Amino acid sequence: MAESDQQKWDQRYARDAQRTPPTPAPWLAGLVDQLPRGDALDLACGRGGNAIYLASRGCSVDAIDISPVGLQLARDAAQAAGEKVNFFCQDLSAQPDISAWQYDLIVMFHFMAPALLARLHHALRPGGVLMVEQHLRGYPDAAGPGSDRFRVAPGALAQTLNDLEIIWQEEGLLPQDSDRKNSASALIPLDTPERSWTANGGGSGAPPFALSRVLARRLP
Ligand SMILES: C[S@@+](CC[C@H](N)C(=O)[O-])C[C@H]1O[C@@H](n2cnc3c(N)ncnc32)[C@H](O)[C@@H]1O
Repeated sequence: MAESDQQKWDQRYARDAQRTPPTPAPWLAGLVDQLPRGDALDLACGRGGNAIYLASRGCSVDAIDISPVGLQLARDAAQAAGEKVNFFCQDLSAQPDISAWQYDLIVMFHFMAPALLARLHHALRPGGVLMVEQHLRGYPDAAGPGSDRFRVAPGALAQTLNDLEIIWQEEGLLPQDSDRKNSASALIPLDTPERSWTANGGGSGAPPFALSRVLARRLP
């Protein structure tokens, strides 16, 4: 499965090669001033938007992904931005050895790895923070992956985490054109009627993402 995941993502990133520079996730950009600095890890970093952003905000950043093609795009983007990120190619579904991992901040956006999530408290320093955002199941008209394999059930994300204090959890809709500078609380209620999406989202008319977010902290 992992090899086909790599092939799938390599092909996707090869098609993406000419796209605009990667940008950070709206939630991360909105909340970054309240997150720990220090050593950060971006899991399934893709084209590196979050990793490069964290480096630009003073973190020392490691970033992992399975796709060599995506990682090359990320390396190129980091170089273009003048930021240093340590990129690693690794299959995160293969139960990586995390015994040497020690981070102040771990972010994981739009990647399903429940078994890894359940162990991540070991990879955080005391007081360290884990930030996870995943697509939510049950909203077939929402933007994002079509398969439930890449979506988390309502309420399930927080239950996956062990030995961490949940400091924020939220499920809702994120308009595709939301303003990332003002979006720490940009999720709108899941039962918002379709006609209101554009009113809340700024007018593109595109369906929103349905998201599940959890912020958790290892107790000092
Ligand atoms: C939807 S993208 C998310 C990328 C990035 N986190 C973001 O939010 O822009 C999913 C990422 O997971 C990576 N991926 C898929 N399977 C993986 C695996 N088994 N191990 C590590 N990364 C994987 C893909 O290469 C892809 O970059």
